[in-house]
Amino acid sequence: MPLIIAIDGPSGAGKSSTSKGLAIRGNWDYLDTGALYRAITLIARENEIDSEVELREKLKEFKIEFVTNPREPQVLVDGRNVDNEIRSEAITANVSKISSWKSIREYLFNLQRKIIGNSKNGIVVEGRDIGTVVVPDAQLKVFLFADLAARSARREAELDEDASSERITNSLASRDEIDSKRAVSPLRPAEDALELDSTNLSLQEVVDVIWDWLDRKNLLGLPKVAVIGRPNVGKSSLLNALAGENRAIVDDAAGTTRDPIDELIEFGGSIWRFV
Ligand code: DC
Repeated sequence: MPLIIAIDGPSGAGKSSTSKGLAIRGNWDYLDTGALYRAITLIARENEIDSEVELREKLKEFKIEFVTNPREPQVLVDGRNVDNEIRSEAITANVSKISSWKSIREYLFNLQRKIIGNSKNGIVVEGRDIGTVVVPDAQLKVFLFADLAARSARREAELDEDASSERITNSLASRDEIDSKRAVSPLRPAEDALELDSTNLSLQEVVDVIWDWLDRKNLLGLPKVAVIGRPNVGKSSLLNALAGENRAIVDDAAGTTRDPIDELIEFGGSIWRFV
C-alpha cells in the first residue's frame, strides 16, 4: 500500500493548504474530498434536485474526476473544470446538507477509494471522515483544528467576495454543527489521530510539525543507519562528510564523542561498523 496521509478537521482549519504543502514537499498526490461533495452539490443545484433518491439516480449520468496534482488540483464533472463554481456561497451553503445523505456518502466512498487506489507514490487526503471511515488504515492520521475566530479570519482573507465576517463565522459554525452531528460518518478525530491545533501556527509551522511526525514514524522512506565503532576510528568524521556539515565534534582525543546514539543518521542502507 502506498503512503496514505489522512488530514481531517473542520472547515477553515488549514487542511487544504497544509495538505497541498505536504504533498508538494513529499512528491505525493493530493485529494480534496470536500471538492467532490461540492461537485455533487453543484450537480444537484444545476438540475434543481432536492431529494436524496433523485440525486443518487441523477449521478449515474455524470462522471466526476479529480486531478491529484497538488500544484494544480482540479475537479471535473464530465470533463468540465468546476473549481470556481464549487466555491460559491450558494454551494457552500448547501454542501453540508447533501453530504449528510447516506447514499451520496456511499457513492463518494467508492470514488475516493478508487482515486486513492490509483496513487503510486503516496497521497495526502483531506476531509472529515478520512481517518475514521474512508482509509482507517492510513499510516498517518492528523486531526487539524483551530478556534472559530482564527478559522473565520482565514476564510475572510481567502474570499474575494464581499462577505461580512459575521456571515462567515455563522456559516462555519453551522457547517461544524451539521458535519459533526450527522448520523453517517460525522466529523470527529480517529482514535489514533494526532491532533494539531493550528490557531497560533503559520502554514509552514503546521507542515513542519506533520513532516516531523512522518519522520518519527519512519514514513519518509529514509532508512536509519547506525554508525558504530571504537573510539577515534573516524565515525564522526564520516558522519560529517555524509551530512555535508559539521554535525558531530571531531577531535584527536579519543572519547570526545562517546555516545553512539548521537551518531544515528539517516543515510545509505546498512549499519557501518568501524573497528
Ligand atoms: O472541505 P470543504 O469545506 O470543501 O468541504 C465541504 C463540505 O463537504 C463540508 O461542509 C462537509 C463535507 N465533507 C464531508 O462531509 N466529508 C468529507 N470527507 C469532506 C467534506
